Amino acid sequence: MLKVGIVGATGYGGEELIRLLLSHPEVEITVLAAKMEGEKLSISEIFPAFEGKIDLPCSDLDIEKMAADSELVFLALPHKVSMEMAARFLSLGKKVIDFSADYRFNEAQIYEEWYEVKHTRKELLKEAVYGLPELNREEIKQARLIANPGCYPTSVILGAAPLVSRGLVDPENIIADSKTGVSGAGRWPGKGFHFGEIQENFKAYKVAGHRHQPEMEEQLGRLAREKTRITFTPHLAPMKRGILSTIYMNLKKKESPEELRQIYKDFYEDEPFVRITEPDKFPETKDVWGSNYCHIGFKVDERAGRAIVISAIDNLIKGASGQAVQNMNIMWGFEEDEGLDHLGPRP
Ligand SMILES: NC(=O)c1ccc[n+]([C@@H]2O[C@H](COP(=O)([O-])OP(=O)(O)OC[C@H]3O[C@@H](n4cnc5c(N)ncnc54)[C@H](OP(=O)(O)O)[C@@H]3O)[C@@H](O)[C@H]2O)c1
Repeated sequence: MLKVGIVGATGYGGEELIRLLLSHPEVEITVLAAKMEGEKLSISEIFPAFEGKIDLPCSDLDIEKMAADSELVFLALPHKVSMEMAARFLSLGKKVIDFSADYRFNEAQIYEEWYEVKHTRKELLKEAVYGLPELNREEIKQARLIANPGCYPTSVILGAAPLVSRGLVDPENIIADSKTGVSGAGRWPGKGFHFGEIQENFKAYKVAGHRHQPEMEEQLGRLAREKTRITFTPHLAPMKRGILSTIYMNLKKKESPEELRQIYKDFYEDEPFVRITEPDKFPETKDVWGSNYCHIGFKVDERAGRAIVISAIDNLIKGASGQAVQNMNIMWGFEEDEGLDHLGPRP
């Protein structure tokens, strides 16, 4: 059995990760930690749904203890918090899957500019692998440090990758319009993310300034092998979970819907967690709720010469914890869908 530790076990990502790993036949969760400020509670006191399934204590992080009791550590932590912790676990011979943005960029400069903090472990940026299995499966197999992708980038990159990688669209003129459920902001969201602000409301936020924008540009730029520019507008929808991204890309030449469909089918042919919807059927967040699937549908706007691609994921599963489990499965040579081969309830 693979022994794993989880830091950030009390957050949304941590909770979902525990839930997924409990049904994984090859994994044993051995240590749980969070910012407990001296308190030590059983995880089933924090999340009563886990009673009888897992009763491990959750306390402040003791790095040496977690490293002694686990081979792989998941860091489901805010950015900046993971940076030093990841480095410490690596130095103790452990592998790390980090949920934060701390190791997602190749160059520290972009991270420092967008996250407004100095990167203190630049030497690890080249080694870290961007954990999007559909693009980087071979590198993930060998990795010690996985930078689990952001939720919006997962939906946008998967939606755009087949066309961008084939050079069929203008990479400097991509528009991504995304909507998220409120769990995307974590369990303790800031002002403007509470129930009273969200219900019966729909709004854009961080217009032309969201931190996931450079992450999408870096990954799609690698695929395009040229500079990529995205105008990204996130919206907050009155729902708990789910991301729906609508991506507009200018086609370089006329492509029929059938040709595009074949390109998407070929690109994702062997992917266990990407589904292309039937013509004129478009993904809905309800269809992927609680599952590790990404559904992608599209339409060609022949009049405007644009491809309109719509992708849906569950932000907490394919956008975070499910993707982390998928990465773990690849790193350890387990079946890629182990612990993930289920559909969530339709809300
Ligand atoms: N939510 C999503 O949809 C989503 C999707 C993709 C990626 N992510 C990324 O995943 C990470 C976690 O997100 P989340 O939504 O799970 O956040 P969250 O609900 O706010 O949980 C954060 C967790 O980190 C713990 N923590 C904070 N500071 C700590 C410290 N100094 N030492 C130890 N533990 C500490 C918190 O502990 P306490 O509860 O004790 O404070 C909590 O368990 C973030 O980097 C986020 O950007 C989230």
